[in-house]
Amino acid sequence: MKINSKEAKELLESGEVVAIPTETVYGLAAKWDNPVAIKKIFTLKGRPSHNPLIVHVGSKEEVKSDVDALDALISAFWPGPMTIVLPVQENKILPIIRANLPTCAFRMPNHPLTLELLKETGPLVAPSANLSGSPSATKREHVEKDFGADFPVLDGGPCLHGVESTILIYNDGIWQLGRYGAISLEQIAEVLGYMPDFVTKEGIICPGQLLAHYAPKAKLYLEKAPCKQVIGFSNRSYPEGSELFALGDDNDPVAVAHNLYATLRKLDQEGIKEAWVDMHFPATGLWKTIRERLMRASNVH
Ligand code: TXA
Ligand code: MG
Repeated sequence: MKINSKEAKELLESGEVVAIPTETVYGLAAKWDNPVAIKKIFTLKGRPSHNPLIVHVGSKEEVKSDVDALDALISAFWPGPMTIVLPVQENKILPIIRANLPTCAFRMPNHPLTLELLKETGPLVAPSANLSGSPSATKREHVEKDFGADFPVLDGGPCLHGVESTILIYNDGIWQLGRYGAISLEQIAEVLGYMPDFVTKEGIICPGQLLAHYAPKAKLYLEKAPCKQVIGFSNRSYPEGSELFALGDDNDPVAVAHNLYATLRKLDQEGIKEAWVDMHFPATGLWKTIRERLMRASNVH
């Protein structure tokens, strides 16, 4: 259900959860100082309590730390699709947000409605606005599909990037990659002077990382399979009789990322049981994020 900014503010302040637009995907927001409201997010999503949340802030000044290169990262990428995980003083951030870790994830999203809202409400915690494990929501209709037609959504239109923020984790003097996202490793290397390594130790640094994710109900094959549905590119041709679920042109990763989750959700809307995915695309830049999401989407059956 569409709500306006004033209603979003009032609901948040009365301890409710509302969906908010960001430049990556829609978020399911609650005020960061309200543990009861935050608990509702976990229940609504069916999210395990060991998977921590990102604190969304409305200004760069709200995150202060003297770790190396933090200022450079923030001035290069905020507001924008970059989440930064830092060690925090444990009495400053509620444990339910951090899943009891000694660190917390922060990001300043780049969407005019949400930046405006954050100025009024203060920091908001917001995971992606989808049922745990499902493809994220990039339109109001996706949120309503997962949480019901009456669920309050501040509608900011379709999300620009269509994939989540890139997560960087500060660990003992270096930055590591917690999640591939809308900002590429190449862009990060320009700021840091090195490419961060991907972290994979479950339970220690990034608990949510290895959970099943982004998956439609349809079974996905990552190579050509004997089914007629194919997730592929609009400028390629596929075997006669194929039904193409087009991600966009194979020379336009920005459009492919933008369409990715809507395409996965479309399979379910049409009751498709299986599809194969055309994985023949480059292994650089934003394509890496697209590849990782498709692999995770295929991995849970
Ligand atoms: O683009 C985005 O980041 C979206 C929009 C709504 O801002 N949010 C989002 O949130 O994707 P969520 O909850 O779906 O994903 C957050 C990820 C999870 O994989 C979680 O494990 C990781 O961030 N995370 C959160 N706090 C962490 C921490 N302290 N250490 C390591 N990873 C953390
Ligand atoms: Mg998510």
